[in-house]
Amino acid sequence: MWVSITTARLSAVQCLLLFVSLVEAQYIQNYTIGKWNNQDHPFWRREPQDIPQPVIIPNEQTILVYNCHYMKAICLNARRWLATPRGLNLLLSGALTPKPYTLPAGRYLFGYDIRNSATDDRRRRNCPSNWNQNHLCPEPDQPDVMPGPWFTTSTENQDPLQVNEIAAERDLDVRSGQIEITRRSGLFYSCEEFPAASFVEGGTGTAGTGVVPEGDGGTGSTYCAPMMINKSCTQGIGLFDEDPQWSEQNWQGQAHQRLARILQNNAQVVPGNNQAIIFTLALVDGTAGDPPTKVMWGTSQETVSVVKGTRRSIPFSELSSMEKLQHMVTQNLEELSDWNSIDTHVNASHSLKRAQKKSTLPREHQSHPSSVQLSRSVGTEMQVSRKTSKLPRGADLVFSTSASEQLLSL
Ligand SMILES: *[C@@H]1O[C@H](CO)[C@@H](O)[C@H](O)[C@H]1NC(C)=O
Ligand SMILES: *[C@@H]1O[C@H](CO)[C@@H](O)[C@H](O)[C@H]1NC(C)=O
Ligand SMILES: *[C@@H]1O[C@H](CO)[C@@H](O)[C@H](O)[C@H]1NC(C)=O
Repeated sequence: MWVSITTARLSAVQCLLLFVSLVEAQYIQNYTIGKWNNQDHPFWRREPQDIPQPVIIPNEQTILVYNCHYMKAICLNARRWLATPRGLNLLLSGALTPKPYTLPAGRYLFGYDIRNSATDDRRRRNCPSNWNQNHLCPEPDQPDVMPGPWFTTSTENQDPLQVNEIAAERDLDVRSGQIEITRRSGLFYSCEEFPAASFVEGGTGTAGTGVVPEGDGGTGSTYCAPMMINKSCTQGIGLFDEDPQWSEQNWQGQAHQRLARILQNNAQVVPGNNQAIIFTLALVDGTAGDPPTKVMWGTSQETVSVVKGTRRSIPFSELSSMEKLQHMVTQNLEELSDWNSIDTHVNASHSLKRAQKKSTLPREHQSHPSSVQLSRSVGTEMQVSRKTSKLPRGADLVFSTSASEQLLSL
């Protein structure tokens, strides 16, 4: 009985991961420095046979911010990878810039690959559809499940609606005298990879092919990160439909979609080209009052710190390419209060309603009498700061894509 249910749900969870994992091509994860307009400039080629293209450094700098107060699993995984040799030697984040040069903690430059199909290819390698069969969740050091935090990081093993569902809360039902589910987490663990699949640095690299001088790179780090359960992945079992529970993967998904749009707007690229756009990732130890993720963009017109310890008041657009990179990786977020930003916010009025179960489920799975409905508010409703007046043309403020679509489009 349990076996067949589990099997059914296994196939159901695959609706999140629609791909066949048979892709051979993997991509170069590093850059070269060449001459462009008579100055040093980073170049990138996706595959060895491609002609290296100058990477795009938009004059509107873009910063992707993760607030590690909420993005606990995702930040932990990112920091773990950033402490590996590849993470410590990110070419654009300082390896080639003149020393002594002190980088502020938690700022990194990554390349966003404008070809969506390459993102899918990278994800298939690090987060294949059978990932959850080969990777145990929760992790030994799984951090608190946010928002909340939820009372446990364990998975639901008595009555799971889908693989890696985060455990439900149970209590004594005074009417039946039975221990019953009082509240579903509404969340499950899904595969988080760092660097993200849409980043040049993501994927598994060109192992064994001896690419010179960029090197073959390597695999990303994967980790269990919480995400909202979508009923399309639970055989239609209604769950929090009116009260969606967003967590790390959803906040990240929304931010990455916005990042992609803003970068493509500002860089005016032809989608599908062999090109990358440089942006800054900021890992910030914020508080519950800060949004889980946000994207900031704007133009520096202030005094900027440039090479050789001198300070000049100069617009970003007039810096050399290498000075731009240095500026981007040392950017102080507090100085950017006049920049545009789009925040995600915590979706956190956990209603304590039990999942309504469909009659198509075997009888033994409908055995819980409907339990006491409670209502508890967790987390903070976030202020959404959307300075729409400065949005680039075409930037779309309405992001209603589903969690599963977001997962697929990161
Ligand atoms: C990245 O590429 C540069 C050449 O552009 C090379 O010197 C460096 O070793 C590479 N980094 C890694 C981690 O392979
Ligand atoms: C909560 O999440 C859902 C995702 O299904 C989203 O559509 C909705 O706008 C969110 N609500 C708030 C208040 O953020
Ligand atoms: C669940 O997934 C389906 C199909 O991808 C989508 O249409 C729907 O909006 C999603 N629901 C939520 C609450 O995200």
